[in-house]
Amino acid sequence: MSPEMLVSRAEKFSKVCGILERFGHKPTMLIPILQAVQEEYRYLPEEVLSFIAATLDLPPARVFGAATFYAHFALKPKGRYVIRVCDGTACHVKDSEPILNKLRTVLGLGKGQQTTEDMEFTLETVSCLGACGLAPVVVVNEEVHSLMTPEKTEALVNGLKGRKEGMAA
Ligand code: FES
Repeated sequence: MSPEMLVSRAEKFSKVCGILERFGHKPTMLIPILQAVQEEYRYLPEEVLSFIAATLDLPPARVFGAATFYAHFALKPKGRYVIRVCDGTACHVKDSEPILNKLRTVLGLGKGQQTTEDMEFTLETVSCLGACGLAPVVVVNEEVHSLMTPEKTEALVNGLKGRKEGMAA
């Protein structure tokens, strides 16, 4: 293992140790612990789940079971920006599909691919977000964008890409 990999591994576990400490190493706090881990890493890495099971003295099946039961938890890494396109009835009727197609093109996502190679964007669909009056709706991380069109969505993504380039400059 290279020194860089060792450092990133040590960091990974120091973060999870901090979270376990924050919740008093209580097995009853498993769900909040998983939530905090996901906030930190943006997904639940397999080796971290095994580590949590061992530390809390829980059967690994229980920890993996909880992680796979809730749709909110992700077992695969997601991009920095998670774009969710609502595909509930109201949004679908108001043309959410062309928005989705535009996003796939703009992000260069292949068939079945959800996350861009550079780990910047993840594209998901969701059923009704409860904002049907504002359909079609697109959510970027926690930010809701209403009355969207393919053009507005493209401009939104270009703005997010620009933010990254602006940061690098
Ligand atoms: S169907 Fe999209 S918000 Fe309800």
